[in-house]
Amino acid sequence: MNQNVKGFSKLSKEEKINWITSTYFSNPIEAKESLLKYWNSDENLQKLHDEFIENTLTNFYLPYGVAPNFVINGKTYTIPMAIEESSVVAAASKAAKFWGERGGFKTTIIGTEKIGQVHFLFEGTTEKLTAFFNKIKSAFFADTEEITKNMQKRGGGILDIVLKDKTASLENYYQLHATFNTKDSMGANFINTCSEQFAKTLKDQAQEYSDFSENEKNLQVIMSILSNYVPNCVVRAEVSCPVDQLSEDKNIDANEFAQKFATAVKIAEIEPYRAVTHNKGIMNGIDAVILATGNDFRAVEAGIHAYASRSGQYSSLSHVKIENGIFTFWMDIPLAIGTIGGLTNLHPLVKFSMELLGKPNAEELMQIVATAGLAQNFAALRSLTTTGIQQGHMKMHLMNILNQHQATKDEKQDVLNYFKNTTVSHSLVIDYLEKIRK
Ligand code: MEV
Repeated sequence: MNQNVKGFSKLSKEEKINWITSTYFSNPIEAKESLLKYWNSDENLQKLHDEFIENTLTNFYLPYGVAPNFVINGKTYTIPMAIEESSVVAAASKAAKFWGERGGFKTTIIGTEKIGQVHFLFEGTTEKLTAFFNKIKSAFFADTEEITKNMQKRGGGILDIVLKDKTASLENYYQLHATFNTKDSMGANFINTCSEQFAKTLKDQAQEYSDFSENEKNLQVIMSILSNYVPNCVVRAEVSCPVDQLSEDKNIDANEFAQKFATAVKIAEIEPYRAVTHNKGIMNGIDAVILATGNDFRAVEAGIHAYASRSGQYSSLSHVKIENGIFTFWMDIPLAIGTIGGLTNLHPLVKFSMELLGKPNAEELMQIVATAGLAQNFAALRSLTTTGIQQGHMKMHLMNILNQHQATKDEKQDVLNYFKNTTVSHSLVIDYLEKIRK
């Protein structure tokens, strides 16, 4: 079967599905059914989803759950989470309850500055370029006035533009490095539009600058784009309580737990192999809320991992201290997110999430997201340093194993009862299923 196709995007959705299923599948009818099963019966809703991207065939579901009882700066939230990993929502809910009874989470916005850059090559001296830049700097603001006027009305806009000399790393390479406040929007389109205008202004002004030689006038713009690295768009989430209130289990000594927990965090601070998994646990909470609120999880992921490497070595995002009998656990993370624009006004479930959260602005959402990440990290470290992760994890995964093996409702109940007090493993579940099926 020919797997090359011309003009695929011009085919209707039905034609695309027919081509895909007949080209790649041994049972095209069954394959087509798998796709159609996920179409929404509400045609308008389906059309909305079809038009989010190109070549849509169907919808790809993720569970949408909630973690209640999150107390953040004294206010209680039920946090929406879109995620497929079985134990994440349960762990978040447990950590929310635990810290809710100990004063809740405290969060602070450390900065909200976003970044856009124009990368260009200039074959002249830095001094000459700097003189030119200083002379024309106001033109960057003037030429973007039309683009920025609405953002300015909302209290945002371009904060500053500086020229950066990068020639020590790459011959002739300079940047216009602009900082922005995009208020409640993530601001990607705004920043990119401004950056492209900066590039145009830069080229036009260079052409007319009498101190430049012909070669210098033809400076070459390579690209203009926002940066997803936002080390000055940062939120802090924190919890603290007296060490002796840390244990809920009489078999676990609070002091020993605090020490072990702190050592686990220190290990993640100094050991990249552990830091990646440690931070992955944080991202379980962050990504789930980012998805449920229609934000760009790829941007958030890229920015956060770059931030975790800012010392030159990949390290833990969270930190702990035990001082004067007080245990404090905190995390600073960069988050360039929005509560207006993008999917936020379009996707019905994103609208639902926003209302569930009390229609937060971007700063409030940053605080909610960071809290979900810290809660997730706390829950994972607490399991890891006490019972081990598999006990809780496999209990939550049990339903997936049962569904994989097409267990009936009665079989599920039987298996759940059996494993109430028994450690779950894949093979033990299969053995038990086989036994009751005999
Ligand atoms: C699993 O999704 C996340 C953990 O591995 C995080 C961690 O190890 O800290 C449990």
